Amino acid sequence: MPTISKKGQLMPESPIRKLVPYAEQAYKDGKTVYHLNIGQPDIKTPEVALDAVKVHSLDILAYTRSEGSEAYRKKIAEYYHKNNIQVEHDDIIVTTGGSEALLFAFGSIMDSDDEIIIPEPFYANYNGFSTASDIKVVPVISKIEDNFALPAIEEFEKLITPKTKAILICNPGNPTGYLYSKEEIKKLAQIVKKHDLFLIADEVYREFVYDGNEFYSIMQEESIAENAIMIDSVSKRYSMCGARIGYLVSKNKSFIKTALKFAQARLSPPTLAQIASEAALSTPQSYFDGVINDYVSRRNTLISELEKIDGVKVAKPKGAFYCIAELPVKSADNFAKWLLEKFDINKETVMVAPAAGFYSTPGVGLNQIRIAYVLNENSLIKAVNILKEALKVYKD
Ligand SMILES: Cc1ncc(COP(=O)(O)O)c(C=O)c1O
Repeated sequence: MPTISKKGQLMPESPIRKLVPYAEQAYKDGKTVYHLNIGQPDIKTPEVALDAVKVHSLDILAYTRSEGSEAYRKKIAEYYHKNNIQVEHDDIIVTTGGSEALLFAFGSIMDSDDEIIIPEPFYANYNGFSTASDIKVVPVISKIEDNFALPAIEEFEKLITPKTKAILICNPGNPTGYLYSKEEIKKLAQIVKKHDLFLIADEVYREFVYDGNEFYSIMQEESIAENAIMIDSVSKRYSMCGARIGYLVSKNKSFIKTALKFAQARLSPPTLAQIASEAALSTPQSYFDGVINDYVSRRNTLISELEKIDGVKVAKPKGAFYCIAELPVKSADNFAKWLLEKFDINKETVMVAPAAGFYSTPGVGLNQIRIAYVLNENSLIKAVNILKEALKVYKD
């Protein structure tokens, strides 16, 4: 029998998707499942983007350049200029989603056993990408009690070893909704400069910032132009998750030159999706204003409904569209399975993502879930009510 690689065996399951077979069984049993587990927004994709692929003039669906079409990258640079980020098209590689951008970044800057410091809880697939790249995640723990604020800078410095190559942050954060302040970004900039590290910022939720707070990108810190690598994506910004378009952005020329070799190996990002994504850059501001209003009222509803449940603790997100909730259960994993298998109200139940998979420290977050507020308010209210009633009868 041929054997599977150690790496393959170590690859973690996605906590967001691992309960899918239980959800499928629930559908077969005739239940409606409210999906709070996955960041797939129910928001409509901008019409300009959809129209561009309905009426294109292509005769051949050919490859594009490995770094993405030049016309598209020039427009992406214009988008960044409007957002006070001074990068040019040569500083951008178009990738197959932010996911591929992360893999290219890891592959370009780290070797086997190198270390990357990440505040946890973090986007669960960072664990998967790190395993695939054979690198070690060193977590800095942020806590629900502190609303997931960045730990003191000394905590980062304590963890730096000769193997440390990078610090990775997600801003605004998935799964916490935490938004880094300008001061925090400046402190991180000081550390990476002092210790000669890369600072990778996953800014795929940059547009989703609430309550009048200001977003500050690592790319605005000119002093770390050589250290900074930004990950971006059209998936959430334009509700175009299925387009599979993201970008890798950096002013560090040798990094971009290296990442381009990874991009060449996979030939090209998807051509039709680049056409849609280029058109999406012309989405009117009114679209975003409407979307942000929707997310703010969804967040407010979700948090106030969750706070009414006995024993539930929740941190209020300032951005993105997720929150972590602590439940009065021992194992959120078992609870999430039980919800799909055994519990319903009038044939309706809820799917949530157990949060332990968003940590790399074993045993942390076992009683937490991640909730994505990607459903309309009525559905959110019904879903939280199901959680509330379920917690009344659930026995660990
Ligand atoms: C924080 C974060 N980064 C990256 C991604 C990857 O997104 P995509 O590959 O769709 O661009 C996601 C998707 O949910 C995410 O939440």
